[in-house]
Amino acid sequence: MCGIVGYVGPRKVVPIIIEGLKRLEYRGYDSAGLVYLQDNKLRKHRCEGKLVNLEELMEEVDDGAGHIGLGHTRWATHGPPSEANAHPHSDCSGDLVVVHNGIIENFQTLRRELTARGHVFTSQTDTEVLAHLIEEHLDGDLAAAVRSAVREVDGSFALGVMWTGRPDMLVAARNQSPLVLGIQEGRGCFMASDIPALLPYTRNIIFLEDQEMAILKAGELQVMTLADGLPLEKEIQTIDWNASMAEKAGYRHFMLKEIYEQPLAVLNTFRGRLDPETGAINLPEIGLSRDKLRGLRRIFLLACGTSWHAALVAKYWLEKWVGIPVEVDIASEFRYRRLLLGPEVLVIPISQSGETADTLAGLRLAQKLGSRIISICNVVGSTITRESDGTIYTHAGPEIGVASTKAFTSQLTALFLLTLYLGQELETINQAKRIEFCRALVELPPIIEKELSRLQQDMDGLAEEFSRSRDFLYLGRGENFPIALEGALKLKEISYIHAEGYAAGELKHGPIALIDRDMPVLALVPRDGVYGKVISNVQEVKARHGRMILVGSEGDEALAEIADYAVYLPIIHEELNPILYVIPLQLLSYQIACLRGCDVDQPRNLAKSVTVE
Ligand code: AGP
Repeated sequence: MCGIVGYVGPRKVVPIIIEGLKRLEYRGYDSAGLVYLQDNKLRKHRCEGKLVNLEELMEEVDDGAGHIGLGHTRWATHGPPSEANAHPHSDCSGDLVVVHNGIIENFQTLRRELTARGHVFTSQTDTEVLAHLIEEHLDGDLAAAVRSAVREVDGSFALGVMWTGRPDMLVAARNQSPLVLGIQEGRGCFMASDIPALLPYTRNIIFLEDQEMAILKAGELQVMTLADGLPLEKEIQTIDWNASMAEKAGYRHFMLKEIYEQPLAVLNTFRGRLDPETGAINLPEIGLSRDKLRGLRRIFLLACGTSWHAALVAKYWLEKWVGIPVEVDIASEFRYRRLLLGPEVLVIPISQSGETADTLAGLRLAQKLGSRIISICNVVGSTITRESDGTIYTHAGPEIGVASTKAFTSQLTALFLLTLYLGQELETINQAKRIEFCRALVELPPIIEKELSRLQQDMDGLAEEFSRSRDFLYLGRGENFPIALEGALKLKEISYIHAEGYAAGELKHGPIALIDRDMPVLALVPRDGVYGKVISNVQEVKARHGRMILVGSEGDEALAEIADYAVYLPIIHEELNPILYVIPLQLLSYQIACLRGCDVDQPRNLAKSVTVE
């Protein structure tokens, strides 16, 4: 999605904008631009492609003492990537500019009406209507003009506005698209689409909420309601992510760094929420009394992509250990189905970013239908968390790589904790079993830590062998079926190799027709309750000259006899296998993508947070 950076203060603005936009590159974009005030004129520079093109452009420019400005990286939604469609966009006078993230759903109507009133458009974007609308309402008071203009707008926006008539201020406004504000005492005020852009300057952050706006000046920041301009007191949150957490810390890519951060991410997610001595689980975020929990008739999990795979694993856990029926839905399907929800259904949106449009829309629909919403999310203060009745945070830290890794294993950890908590409150898991599970969780991070380097070496070898494949099939059963889906998603989204995840038992119902020497098959075969069944499926592949990669339990000599390649993992508590078994699949995808020269952290066509439908 698009990235916004704005600054006003005593420092030179262009370097701040460029650096901030660089830290938002993970959001995915295809053009960039910036604007600053110099000699009371707006100096606008835009280009197609990556930020490096904008930096080269700026090398030719004396950006002078510009101290107030806005920058933007655009992920095209209306109109192709081009200089003309890049933000900032101007009004007719050229004295007012806007940068925007979101979608103006009624922009065609607005554009027609504005054109009929003499406005001249220079782009194909929805955003440009905002500049002309504000221009129409402008009567000396920029904030009031923004308020009036957005009343005519249907859709989502995070907005930055600048006008030569008020050279001392920026205006920010937000509706259904993320926008954070930063304050650096005596050194100015900032706006940005996400926290990493501000970390080099300040950790004092204010989260703008929907229907809120702000006026930023060098020495002060005022937040108010978007509807009426009424002042609002907002809490300043201190973000403990230091800049290095959002840096690569010496790894070649953010994705690899985040794969290696998984032991800590899993640990931080369960830390303080369980007692391995007593088996006590502590999740006050649920905020439901035992009576209310006893009244639950169903649990509904909704998510997209990798988060949906986490939900699929949780269904096995919750139904097995809590005994409440669980439905899982892809959020974009959930929101358009006839839903049978109500107070007796607990709805759990799962989202790393907390800004995914479909998941957020599903949350709002479930809330309207009377269900209680407990979200699982990785970003403090994100929209989904602020609209939930409670949130179980995954403490994975910032996940910059577009392909989700540590957030996924943290989501699984949080969902397993939720299973244990509900089992505790509904007395479906006795204390001895909870102690057993708590100990298994506590033992997991050091096991992952110990295996990562060895697994990466194992995967490097496999990647050499398979990086030129055109297709890949991933098989799993039970809780490992969603892990097969996740492995396939990882491979396709960063290496662009077509891959499918399948329930191993489904092989004979069609996919087996695909098997030949050119179709690598990876199967997850831990020594668990369905081991024998998966081995039978694997034999079917071998009989058709398929090339097999088996990921299974250390010490299982049979694997090497059957497979072309065997990858061994430590034997841990069977219930936690999904958290461990996804890791070699992440590393395999990463290594293959590197060998194929793909942009691992920002794969083509993808965005880290899909904030539009
Ligand atoms: C994960 O590797 C993908 N990039 C994508 O499927 C992602 O999981 C999905 O867009 C959901 O995002 P969220 O967890 O932030 O809601």
